[in-house]
Amino acid sequence: MTDRFYITTPIYYVNAEPHLGHLYATMLADTVRRFQTQRGRESYFLTGTDEHSQKIERAAEAKGVPVQLFVDGLAGRFREVFDHWKIGYDQFIRTTSDAHKAGAQELWRRCRDAGLIYKSVYAGWYCVQDNAFIDGPKDGPPPECPDSGGPAEWVEEESYFFRLSEFQDRLLAYYREHPGFIQPDSRRNEIVSFVEGGLQDLSISRVTTKWGVQVPDDPAHVMYVWFDALSNYVTALGFSESPEPERWKFWPGVHLIGKDILRFHTVYWPAFLMGAGLPLPERVMVHGLWMSGGRKMSKRLGNGVDIGLLDRHFQHDAVRYYCLAEMGFGQDGDFTYGALVDRSNADLANGIGNLASRTLTMLAKYRESVIPDAAVDPAVLSALEQAVTTAVAEFENFEFRRGIEALRVAMATVDRFISDRKPWAMAKDPALERELDVVLVTAFAAVRALVVTLAPTLPEGAEALWRSLNFEGTASAVDPGALAIGDVPAGHRIGDIVPVYPRLNKEQIMDEITKETAADGAAPVEPAASAAAVAPAPTPATEDDAFITIDDFAKVDLRVGQILAADRIEGADKLLKLSVDLGETEPRQVLAGIALHYAPEALVGRKIVVVANLKPRKMRGLVSHGMILAASVGDDGVPVLATFAEDVPNGIRLK
Ligand code: MSP
Repeated sequence: MTDRFYITTPIYYVNAEPHLGHLYATMLADTVRRFQTQRGRESYFLTGTDEHSQKIERAAEAKGVPVQLFVDGLAGRFREVFDHWKIGYDQFIRTTSDAHKAGAQELWRRCRDAGLIYKSVYAGWYCVQDNAFIDGPKDGPPPECPDSGGPAEWVEEESYFFRLSEFQDRLLAYYREHPGFIQPDSRRNEIVSFVEGGLQDLSISRVTTKWGVQVPDDPAHVMYVWFDALSNYVTALGFSESPEPERWKFWPGVHLIGKDILRFHTVYWPAFLMGAGLPLPERVMVHGLWMSGGRKMSKRLGNGVDIGLLDRHFQHDAVRYYCLAEMGFGQDGDFTYGALVDRSNADLANGIGNLASRTLTMLAKYRESVIPDAAVDPAVLSALEQAVTTAVAEFENFEFRRGIEALRVAMATVDRFISDRKPWAMAKDPALERELDVVLVTAFAAVRALVVTLAPTLPEGAEALWRSLNFEGTASAVDPGALAIGDVPAGHRIGDIVPVYPRLNKEQIMDEITKETAADGAAPVEPAASAAAVAPAPTPATEDDAFITIDDFAKVDLRVGQILAADRIEGADKLLKLSVDLGETEPRQVLAGIALHYAPEALVGRKIVVVANLKPRKMRGLVSHGMILAASVGDDGVPVLATFAEDVPNGIRLK
């Protein structure tokens, strides 16, 4: 891999407002770019808007707005949204800009001068929605558009053609010699068999619309929008400008695209470039699509998740992380708000957020915020090293889900290590001072390594945590691949603990989103997966409310706990004093009236269910911070503790 990295997103059609699908592709590219920069590569990131074509002209007409004004407005919206979501692009290209048009014309001239363009007549089907030519007999019914599913239109017009048919062998040879050119492999295989099936010359100009880039020396024709659009990847770098701009050094680059536009990028585009005598892209990385209600999220279907709604209810980090952690690269994903809330709570609030605050709280409490001089526990260190190495390798291949998964496993190892060592108990015994140092240093090393490695996926929170760790500079300036995880700075003073990822109240958020989308008449909030969370409360059977509502139930915060210690209380023969790990920074003290039926030593290690938000209550001079659940059996009400047949992590909510 070279030290330079150029990443592009598709340029987006400006026929409607951006939705999650567009934000996703751009966030993914932004994450890749952040990661590459973090690894020390000089990088360049291009995104922008694709503003020509009949489809856009018609959308403007339908609104009664002059087309230039129409595209200016929507291009502005895309840019605004990307800026608001802190997408760190270097250039936002617009295909209506003069520089781009001049570049596209130069690409055309180079292909023409190489004898690859000729004039003829196109008679066939054209899909305005997809900007695609489709095979099919004139007298048959209009064929379906490949992507949008709409009906194609029959057109017969004078057109310039590109000699694509001459490129079959060259393209196949290129795919063979560059096996990583199209990824994942399934997409590569799809294209290889398509090209093996033979290629026809491609119509690359239109006379029935004026809304496009003029064909050089023939003002009656505008370029086919894909010739115009694809050229953006090189016009943005000023490939034809003289003197050659410095940024041209970034070519060739990596194209990130959705699988919906595979053929354009892996057949047409390489052929145009070969024709013009320019180097081919380094790689074409093909991501899957977000579905909603079982269909591709799209502007046309109106089932796109509204970015404004995401913005109002979720931290940007949570949305980015969810998209990366949930969708395997190249696969489709089903977007649900419920899963987004769950991810945010499990991985951000309870995961990295909790581990960081737990660690910093312990350091503040037991070591006056100064990192002690001790070695990181070797088993945890090796787990962390392995996880970071895996994550870095996966991130290099855009496999964020797999990389994140490796880090999650390491995080669980660290959590377990802390719970097993019981630092709160060690702190009470001066003889265990050195051991406590090891726990603290290990936890600190873990937080630092996780924050650094997760930085491209959690740009805002990682930097906030970095500041809490009181390190200079930024987490994103540290290369995770070069971090010496076991090298912990003894004597370093940590900063203040700032909560980064608050727990989201799922029921409340789901309820609000349901109301908002219903008021907008927008696409339904939730395809089946988490419908239970928004199901209406059962109607009371009688006037005296025989039922509670789901909201009533949601008020009870039931959590998985683990008993760490159980002691009898002097003078209270029925009560036991329990120390319970609820996945919080410190175990809780809970009193339970079970002493007549459970021996304290038999309870240590047991998983139980705790009502975690019960008002604290004082009994026998001791405060109980919660209540444990038990069945009350027989006339005597013998308590039998509620527990789990499977292993479950501490602190998880029951619902
Ligand atoms: N203008 C062309 C691309 C020209 S590139 C030289 C185009 N535009 S688009 O606005 O329709 O969509 C472009 C890209 O947006 C898709 O390839 C994909 O990256 C992203 N997405 C659009 N809908 C999406 C989903 N439902 N899910 C994920 N990404 C989606 O095609």
